[in-house]
Amino acid sequence: RESPNSATAIGSGKVQELALLVQDLGANLVVFDRELTPSQVRTLEQAVGVRVVDRSEVILDIFAQRARTRAGKLQVELAQLQYLLPRLAGRGPTMSRLGGGIGTRGPGETQLETERRAIQRRISKLRQEVEELRRHRQRLRQRREGSQIPVVALVGYTNAGKSTLLNALTHAQVYVADQLFATLDPTTRRLELPGQQAVLLTDTVGFLTELPEQLVEAFQATLEEVTEADALLHVVDLSHPNWEGHIEAVETLLDEMPLATGPRQLVFNKIDRLDPEWVEDVRLLYPKALFVSAANGQNLDQLRHTLAQFAAAFAPRPCGGRQFGDP
Ligand code: GTP
Repeated sequence: RESPNSATAIGSGKVQELALLVQDLGANLVVFDRELTPSQVRTLEQAVGVRVVDRSEVILDIFAQRARTRAGKLQVELAQLQYLLPRLAGRGPTMSRLGGGIGTRGPGETQLETERRAIQRRISKLRQEVEELRRHRQRLRQRREGSQIPVVALVGYTNAGKSTLLNALTHAQVYVADQLFATLDPTTRRLELPGQQAVLLTDTVGFLTELPEQLVEAFQATLEEVTEADALLHVVDLSHPNWEGHIEAVETLLDEMPLATGPRQLVFNKIDRLDPEWVEDVRLLYPKALFVSAANGQNLDQLRHTLAQFAAAFAPRPCGGRQFGDP
C-alpha cells in the first residue's frame, strides 16, 4: 500500500490473510512493527480474534521491565498511562482495575469515566514529579558547569555497549546486561585523563528507531543530559548486522534535538568480535572514527587521548553566565 489504511493499517485483504495465518499457527498474539491508532487495534482484534499490540506497547513493556530506580519507574509509568488513556474505551469491563472502592464513582458516572479520571489524576501527579526530577537534574548540571569540566554524553543504539564503556573507562559500577534498554537512568562519572585533563562522562538511555512519542516526553529529564552535553560519544555495536542502520537512527534522533550541537565522535565498539581485516575496511569509510572493545580494553587509550584533547581545547559555553578565569 502507498499509505496505511485508516481502519486497519494493512487493508481488508491482508486482514483476512492475517486471520487465516493466526488460525493456521494457533497464534495468540499479533505484534505490529509500527504504531497503530486505538481504533485500528480494536478493528484488528475483532477481525483476527486475538490480542493485537503495536510497536510502542512492546517498547513500553520492555522499558517497564527494565526500570530500576525511582526516576526510571516514574518516567515509564507516565509514558504507559499516556499511552493507555486514549485506548481505554473498547477494552471491555474485564480490563478495569482502577477505582472500584466505595465513593470512587460519582452519580451517573460509568466505570470508564471513573477510570479515566483516576488515570488523569495519576498522570498529572506523575508529571509534577517528573518536572521536579528535571529541575533537580538541572541543578546538578549547573553545579557541574560551575566546575568548568566538560560533560561528555555517551549516546548510541540500545545494546551498543555504552554502560560497559563507561565502566571500562571509569571503573564505575553501572548495570550492564545483554538486554535492550538496560540503562534507563543516566549515570555520571568523573574521568581522569592524560595531561591532567578530566571530563564528566554520562551514560544515557539507549536510542532506537521510532521511539514512541510518550516515551520521548516522559524521558525528557534523561534526554536533556544529551542536549546539554558539551560533546557526544556515539557508540556503535560494529558486530551488529545492521550497524549502519543504527548509526542513521541515532543521528536522525540527535538532529531532532535542538540543543545537541557539540562535537560528536563515532566510537565503533565490540571489535573483539570481528575480523581485523574487515575492521580496517570500515576504517577507510570512517577515517575519523575510533575502533575499540569495551570488553577487553582494546584501543581505549586512543579514546582517552581523544577525550583529553577535547578537554584541553574546551571553552565553556557562555550561556551559564561564566567567564574565563572564573574559579
Ligand atoms: P542500553 O542500556 O540498552 O542502551 O545498552 P548499552 O549500550 O549500555 O549496552 P551495555 O553496556 O549494557 O552492553 C550490552 C551488551 O554488550 C552486554 O552484554 C555487554 O557485555 C556487551 N558488550 C559491551 N561492549 C562489548 C565489547 O566491546 N565486546 C563484546 N564482545 N561485548 C560487549
